[in-house]
Amino acid sequence: MVLVVIIRWWLLLAALMVTTMASAEYADVILNRYAEKEGMRPVIFPHWFHRIRFRCKVCHNELGFEMRVGANDVTMSDIIDGRFCGMCHNGEVAWSVENCDLCHSGKNGLKSGIFGGHQTGGPGHW
Ligand code: HEC
Ligand code: HEC
Ligand code: HEC
Repeated sequence: MVLVVIIRWWLLLAALMVTTMASAEYADVILNRYAEKEGMRPVIFPHWFHRIRFRCKVCHNELGFEMRVGANDVTMSDIIDGRFCGMCHNGEVAWSVENCDLCHSGKNGLKSGIFGGHQTGGPGHW
């Protein structure tokens, strides 16, 4: 009897964990501090697409992206100088900055933040 209860409890926990992870998987990040004000569409950053290709520390340590949505002050001149997105989107690691629309693909009016899976419960969520 006690064992059955424990197993059920464990299954419930496992189910909760899967749900939490799935919401992170689909979360895109919108960056729109400056873009729309400067006449460009907001930037959609597909976080998960990148997370499965690179280690977290590449961006969150070496490239200096803070692990908190909206916390990073990224400008186009930084990117062209090879910082932030520009560390890879340089025509070598990934397609280059000339492909404006591939990054500036959001609809006007989107606010900086997580879009899709609303929260990840990760360290950046407070
Ligand atoms: C290609 C670069 C890149 C990689 C790799 C990457 N991230 Fe991120 N991450 C970002 C950017 C950009 C943001 C958004 C920052 C902003 O809005 O200012 C972000 C935001 C976050 C946030 C805050 C938003 C949230 O979802 O709560 C967390 C937590 C996070 N990343 C965790 C991770 C983890 C864990 C990994 C590795 C599994 C990872 N990141 C890999 C670039 C990256
Ligand atoms: C690799 C992704 C990427 C590409 C490609 C890209 N941008 Fe950006 N751009 C960004 C990010 C990220 C920001 C910062 C968004 C924010 O917070 O408003 C930004 C911001 C901007 C801004 C806001 C003002 C400023 O100086 O930061 C302008 C204007 C801009 N980009 C123009 C362009 C143009 C024009 C192109 C094509 C020649 C381009 N971008 C290509 C990612 C990109
Ligand atoms: C650590 C390297 C790295 C960084 C940093 C990085 N990217 Fe990427 N990104 C890639 C690679 C690699 C691809 C895949 C390129 C390909 O398919 O040719 C990619 C693809 C993309 C795509 C297309 C996704 C798809 O579904 O095809 C977008 C949009 C994008 N990046 C935006 C950004 C933005 C915005 C930033 C900065 C906030 C950024 N990236 C920072 C490496 C990076």
